[in-house]
Amino acid sequence: MKKIMLVFGTRPEAIKMAPLVKAIEKDDELECVVAVTAQHREMLDQVLELFKIKPQYDLNLMKDNQTLSDITSGVLKGIEKVVLKEKPDMVLVHGDTSTTFAGALAAFYAQVPVGHVEAGLRSGDIYSPFPEEMNRRLTGVLSSVDFAPTMTAKSNLLREGVDEGKIFVTGNTVIDALLSIVDDNYQLESDLADFLAKNKQTVLITAHRRENQGQPMVHIFQAVRRLHEELPEVGFVFPVHKNPRVRALAHEALDGLERVKMIEPLDYEPFANLMNQVDLIMTDSGGLQEEAPALGKPVLVLRENTERPEAVEAGTVALVGTDNEKIFTTAKTLLTDQKAYEAMEKAVNPYGDGKACRRIVQAIKYYFGEAEKPKDWQ
Ligand code: UD1
Ligand code: UDP
Repeated sequence: MKKIMLVFGTRPEAIKMAPLVKAIEKDDELECVVAVTAQHREMLDQVLELFKIKPQYDLNLMKDNQTLSDITSGVLKGIEKVVLKEKPDMVLVHGDTSTTFAGALAAFYAQVPVGHVEAGLRSGDIYSPFPEEMNRRLTGVLSSVDFAPTMTAKSNLLREGVDEGKIFVTGNTVIDALLSIVDDNYQLESDLADFLAKNKQTVLITAHRRENQGQPMVHIFQAVRRLHEELPEVGFVFPVHKNPRVRALAHEALDGLERVKMIEPLDYEPFANLMNQVDLIMTDSGGLQEEAPALGKPVLVLRENTERPEAVEAGTVALVGTDNEKIFTTAKTLLTDQKAYEAMEKAVNPYGDGKACRRIVQAIKYYFGEAEKPKDWQ
């Protein structure tokens, strides 16, 4: 019996690790230990509750307006203690947050092999997304096994000299999570359902990236104001991230606009189903760039670059940056020109087929000499 410890701390890590926790728990030959850092509190707890995950360890680290070194040092010290006590055979971390990097470093210091889920994504710019691009590169160096979601991610790792034998192309676990949650007959709570019914079209907005906090976010919200002014039949739903810096900017720019509905972050189930019911998504999120294409929803990415080029190449995601004029013009075109909209609305699945967790479990067992090598996805 091999003991596998999963470490995560933020909302997106929890969503993407949840189906893997379930898959490892179900496997008779693997023992599952979950340690959450609680880099996020409420937004993490929403996911734990939905997927009925009860972590064995909760470091409860979140502080208001925490700095990068607050989280990194807290995770390093806290996870070190858990790893030394549990002595797992492998530690799994996900993606590119401070929890990911510091969790992997703590495991490395204890000489426990690290499995990196969602490995190999690269934007090519260490300051964008910041600090995520560096977190994932550092985690890649620390890991013994890389679960790359796509062939593009695998190629990135190969280019950096990673041994091909340690890379498994699995698909992204977010698609496993999404498919378990989205239902075309899902009923949104009445307030949201009424808002969607009242407006001819609805745009879903999310924004939280550190490098966008400040002027870029001001420009994004200016574009939303202009769209609101010029398109009277369009409504905007904006579940505002808990980060106080984001909240201040959003409220300053958008308070009082009749058809801009700013709400608390939604639980994953209503949120994913809301994505499925809107017309357009404007976001700087990583996860939304993966989920929306699977639902056939056009996405405008409010960033200068992306580590997720697959859906851009497929034509369902457009990289618009944070220039007010460009965001406004592109969104307006999509909301008023049927042909332009139809060209972007096709459903594509470049990120996964819903079986990523199955492949990761098999790859873990293969690593320990207990299973055949899984076939790469794609
Ligand atoms: C973090 C990750 C980012 C990821 C994002 C997902 C890092 C450096 N950043 O960014 O990669 O894309 O999560 O959302 O790892 N807060 C709450 N309640 C919560 C969550 C956050 O109040 O449930 C507030 C706190 O004041 C906290 C602040 O938000 O200090 C920022 O949280 P933090 O995890 O540092 O950064 P995020 O911007 O959320
Ligand atoms: N999400 C959610 N509720 C919300 C907003 C987003 O459940 O109100 C989900 C979304 O579906 C995706 C994940 O949170 O799976 C993305 O998180 P975020 O944008 O905070 O982080 P990123 O993906 O950019 O790291």
